[in-house]
Amino acid sequence: GASLKDAFNGDFYIGTALDVNQIEEKDPKVTQFISKEFNAITAENIMKSMFVHPQKDKFDFETTDKYVAFGKKHNMFIHGHTLIWHSQLPKWFSEIKDSAEMNAAFENHITTIVKKYKGQINSWDVVNEAVNDDGSLRKSVFLKTLGEDFIAKAFQLAAAADPKVDLYYNDYSMTNPAKREGVIRMVKKIQEKGVKIDGIGMQGHWHLDRPTIQEIEKSILAYSNLGVKVAITELDVSALPSPFGLQGAEVSQRFENNEKMNPYPKSLPDSIQVKLAQRYEDIFKLFLKHKDKISRVTFWGVNDTQSWLNDFPIRGRTDYPLLFDANLQPKKAYYQVLSLK
Ligand code: XIL
Repeated sequence: GASLKDAFNGDFYIGTALDVNQIEEKDPKVTQFISKEFNAITAENIMKSMFVHPQKDKFDFETTDKYVAFGKKHNMFIHGHTLIWHSQLPKWFSEIKDSAEMNAAFENHITTIVKKYKGQINSWDVVNEAVNDDGSLRKSVFLKTLGEDFIAKAFQLAAAADPKVDLYYNDYSMTNPAKREGVIRMVKKIQEKGVKIDGIGMQGHWHLDRPTIQEIEKSILAYSNLGVKVAITELDVSALPSPFGLQGAEVSQRFENNEKMNPYPKSLPDSIQVKLAQRYEDIFKLFLKHKDKISRVTFWGVNDTQSWLNDFPIRGRTDYPLLFDANLQPKKAYYQVLSLK
């Protein structure tokens, strides 16, 4: 029958994030399902520094080797996520204070991982989430120890380790105008130094009503104007209202305070199922309009049970943000997306 990857073949890759169970092929039916619908993969967690580089002098490539083997076996586009990120860092990395020490660790981290998979991985998220919503640079351990040059340096090191692999900058809220300007400034600085950057990843953690299609379109065009590829890297559309009607830092605070919300709704009401389907249709219509600029569209998980949006950004709620339900059955949104082709 029909599948996402076949429907959009020749337009852009259709990817999914994979977590450990899927990579380790715990259930052959799931493997078969993934290879039927998707032709690109991203590691949801296992390539993050806390897993791949748990100690300063120790890398662990056991699961990442399986991930790459999975992609090769099914003839998929294999994306690496992510080399430099302030989050999911091992303690040893996050506690470095000295700039010479950070410089050495940073270089070793990028060079070792990229060289290890040279010629086997198609693209890397070199730097993830380095820009704040107001367009300034995030005060991460990397900025504190190395200064703003850490970004260009990361791209330079990755390019030296594998000159052919595509190198991406990846972030969320990429449609927010202030952040967009900040990202564009940052990318221009990399380019002015003569350092290679091939693409920009817009994570795409979106909602039923925001960002608007116009804002998404404006951003795709603005990033593409920098002469790089644009990828939608972590697509999901939350079907739930904002927790307590709040957004951003106010929600994070409540999450940290361990606040919970009631599991609402217990299942997705039909009226929201319809809205979700319409929203996905609008989004994919836009992607098709700009398919010459878009290299890949990757969902942040195969089906709703895998989604990181369950219990996040607030504990207690189940979300329904993907195209397949808990039983791997296609939702209304799936059929509506496929009907565009
Ligand atoms: C998330 C994973 O989905 C979760 O399983 C994990 O607990 C936290 O990280 N931006 C990113 C992704 O770049 O790596 C994050 O993934 C979601 C937000």
